[in-house]
Amino acid sequence: MPVLEILKYPDRNLKKKSQPVDKIDQKIRQLVQDMAETMYATPGVGLAAPQVGHPFRLIVLDVTPANQPKNLIALINPEIVASEGECTWEEGCLSIPEFTEEVKRKKNVVVRGQNLDGETVEIVGNDLLSIVLQHEIDHLDGILLIDHVSQLKRELYRRKLLKESKEGKDL
Ligand code: NI
Repeated sequence: MPVLEILKYPDRNLKKKSQPVDKIDQKIRQLVQDMAETMYATPGVGLAAPQVGHPFRLIVLDVTPANQPKNLIALINPEIVASEGECTWEEGCLSIPEFTEEVKRKKNVVVRGQNLDGETVEIVGNDLLSIVLQHEIDHLDGILLIDHVSQLKRELYRRKLLKESKEGKDL
């Protein structure tokens, strides 16, 4: 199975709002499988469909520590239906290489979506799970980690990318 290519900032496709999935067919199931494989291989704790060039409201995540059995969560049309508290975490993003930043998010969230059988499911996320859910759902609305940081930090990162591309580094 091929590992999918992950789009990198500032690819404009990352800024688009993704469409709801209206039918969970074989194509969507295959996409979930490929996304999960890509996430584990990279490795990362979460991946949203627009990051691999498919503008659909679909996310996969797994926040299980590496030494424990995998626990893949795949959510279709996820939305945050309740949230509370605040926490800060140093986040990274597979679409923004070599960039991490502390972001303030909700400490606890309840996310409603569908599983691959089309059943409505609710996931209660605390701490890291809450953060990853919010980060991935952001991707579906074209919001990136870098949109949560100060203009100065964003500008510094842009300049770094520009400098590296001028030096002919592989971006
Ligand atoms: Ni991300």
